[in-house]
Amino acid sequence: MSQRETWATRAGFILAAVGSAVGLGNIWQFPFKTATNGGAAFVFVYLLAAVLIGLPAILGEFVIGRRSKLNAIEAFGRLKRPEWTIVGALGLFTGMWILSYYSVVGGWVVRYIFGSATGAYFGSPGEYFAAVSMGPDAIALHGLFMLFTASIVAFGIEDGIEKATKLMVPSIVVILLALAIYAATLPGAADAYAYYLNPDFEYLFANLGDVVPFAVSQAFFSLSLGMGAMITYASYIDGDESLPADGATIVVLNTLVGLLAGFVVLPLLFAQQGGVSETAAGGGPGALFVAVAGAFADLGMAGRAAGVLFFGVVLIAALSSAISLLEVVTSYVVDKYGFDRKTTAFGFAGALFVVGTLPAGDTAWLGWFDTVAYKFLLPVSVLLGVFFVGWVLGPVALDELRNGTGGLASVGPAWLWMVRTFVLVAVLATLLLGVNTLYEMPPIPSV
Ligand code: PHE
Repeated sequence: MSQRETWATRAGFILAAVGSAVGLGNIWQFPFKTATNGGAAFVFVYLLAAVLIGLPAILGEFVIGRRSKLNAIEAFGRLKRPEWTIVGALGLFTGMWILSYYSVVGGWVVRYIFGSATGAYFGSPGEYFAAVSMGPDAIALHGLFMLFTASIVAFGIEDGIEKATKLMVPSIVVILLALAIYAATLPGAADAYAYYLNPDFEYLFANLGDVVPFAVSQAFFSLSLGMGAMITYASYIDGDESLPADGATIVVLNTLVGLLAGFVVLPLLFAQQGGVSETAAGGGPGALFVAVAGAFADLGMAGRAAGVLFFGVVLIAALSSAISLLEVVTSYVVDKYGFDRKTTAFGFAGALFVVGTLPAGDTAWLGWFDTVAYKFLLPVSVLLGVFFVGWVLGPVALDELRNGTGGLASVGPAWLWMVRTFVLVAVLATLLLGVNTLYEMPPIPSV
């Protein structure tokens, strides 16, 4: 078999991982969840979750990947713990599950780039969303998004993912910055900042049981945990760079992009409706599309340009995440069966396209897929992964983390201790609190 690929540079790995992390979770969900969950209080909990739970957990995935230098499934066998392969398999399943509907939302975004340019949704953003979010058009654009994704993955690590994300990640930051500056000039920006930056702790304490697991799951999703993505990306690291330093960089950049997106989205919401409206809050997956589109509509010509840029940046972010999900299964099949990478990438994209016709055909399905992922698949997958790293790999994990840490070597034992205790308990609590409200899940939609 030909030699396994690696990242050409350390920055290449970091940018690819940031590209995976920064996605719809940051620009679509984070500002919106913040807006509907008590503003800065939610941000505060999210930050704690990202640093105290997300960072140790992402390091765990890096350790599995770099130590084994193999895909997220076979890694466990190479680490001499083949019975834990199930953890990798669950991660791969979770990733494919998520990609099937993530791509549908990606398709909406493509639609909205054109809709902004032509002003198609300006007359009635709500009706427009209802018309384009499901049915044949949504299915076609979901297919197109899958095709884009597969085209990048087909080129491999160095020539595909690394080159693409090197371009994409800086563009995301630059465009968001420009939009944030523009958003600052909108009427109501001051109110938006006040809401965004002053924590409503009363709300937080009154709703602790809901907000905390929500913020923690958001951190998992946003850091691409529990889906084999970070294991896979870390498996292409060549050499002993400091994983804690890389992990911290990735967590910080991911969080900054989420916060920056808030500086774009919240002023838009406040400009349009003077606050966070009830309809937008209860509106399900389309709420952001409807609310933000409404704001662009109010801004006339400037709104068209801002809309193209906004949905353009969302598209780039979504693509750089989707490729990391498709790479998980692609690397597995390529490593294990020596299949051709191009055929594999397009083949799985095709299969996921078919699965995604369900959420693309009906947003009720999309919401259902998302809820199952958030409340169940992600926490279970992260929980098993964390348990594996802390209690099964244990000293081996510590040894791998230490490679290349240099002056940071002393963080190792503290990290392992965190993974074994606090992180494990926190993930378990999130799972239980989520499952506890599973009965509130939307019913399985009928076909
Ligand atoms: N982290 C991405 C986001 O925030 C989503 C994602 C999850 C991507 C898992 C890859 C793997 O949108």
